[in-house]
Amino acid sequence: MPGHDSKGMAATRTGFDQVSGAAVGPEWLDERTFRVGTTEFVETYTRGSTAERFHIRKNREMVEAYLDRIRPFPGGAVVEVGIADGGSAALIELVLAPRKLVALELDAGPLPGLRDFIDRHGIGDRVRDRVRLGRAWRRHHAHTQQ
Ligand SMILES: C[S@@+](CC[C@H](N)C(=O)[O-])C[C@H]1O[C@@H](n2cnc3c(N)ncnc32)[C@H](O)[C@@H]1O
Repeated sequence: MPGHDSKGMAATRTGFDQVSGAAVGPEWLDERTFRVGTTEFVETYTRGSTAERFHIRKNREMVEAYLDRIRPFPGGAVVEVGIADGGSAALIELVLAPRKLVALELDAGPLPGLRDFIDRHGIGDRVRDRVRLGRAWRRHHAHTQQ
């Protein structure tokens, strides 16, 4: 159960009700900004995510549809294709507390906000971003298309 460890003990997790373990939010601050627990998300295609404020490439309608789609899978094993600036990866972590989250991205580039988020939440054992794997796949794909 999200917010609980393997013994069912409540764990302190940002974005979760510490008693019920249910995800808190999203709380919409305006049409483009929402919060899950203490983590804020803003709809934008620019880069600049931090561990406290993620840039997410989804509008409100998409975020709500996405949450409806993923909520049935708390604690699941998740593969996300397309990290961009880490917004939906952080959202998945906060809402689902997946037992494993592997997120792939074709584009090169460091993801300091997501890395910091992973460090601060102490979830490096469960969450991996695989920018290089995405790039290797693209190289392989380009090769096989020649
Ligand atoms: C719409 S953006 C992702 C948005 C992100 N999930 C979010 O909600 O903020 C799509 C991303 O998918 C990446 N992408 C597209 N095809 C991909 C593939 N086959 N493997 C990995 N990443 C891919 C693109 O580089 C781009 O960053």
